[in-house]
Amino acid sequence: MTDNSQKKLRRYARISEQLSDLLPETDDRLARMASVIAILHHKMDGFLWTGYYFLRGDKLVVGPYQGPVACQELAQGKGVCWAAVMRNRTIIVDDVHSFPGHIACDSRSKSEIVVPVRDDKGKLFAVLDVDSARYSNFDDIDAAWLEKIVKMISIRMKYS
Ligand code: SME
Repeated sequence: MTDNSQKKLRRYARISEQLSDLLPETDDRLARMASVIAILHHKMDGFLWTGYYFLRGDKLVVGPYQGPVACQELAQGKGVCWAAVMRNRTIIVDDVHSFPGHIACDSRSKSEIVVPVRDDKGKLFAVLDVDSARYSNFDDIDAAWLEKIVKMISIRMKYS
């Protein structure tokens, strides 16, 4: 394993520990979602834009995020976020310019990961989207940890 991968694993492990202390302080889902974003964005290397899009009917509407101003709504069926919703799974894009229909909210974005966010019944209600200004910034380590981290949002959740 490369030094970079080891560093990434250590960071995610620390972030998860921090979140498992912080998130139980509230059962409010939006507050928990915002805390996850703040911690990820400031602690992970290369996260240019970190945030959510909520699935609202036939629209994806932006939620809490950190980074440059982003598109408020994503045209239906187009881009990486919609692909994650339609395939109902995590998608990693090494080079966003080669992804058909990619929606560029910021021209600095080069690679991207989109992870489904599910309620306590397993239903997708949002996606976590992270953009990087580096090509191939995301791999299976990010996918596994981000999936684990977004699961923490819906644990002990009272409101939906
Ligand atoms: N690139 C995304 C749009 C959202 S922004 O990156 C913040 C997409 O193709 O769905």
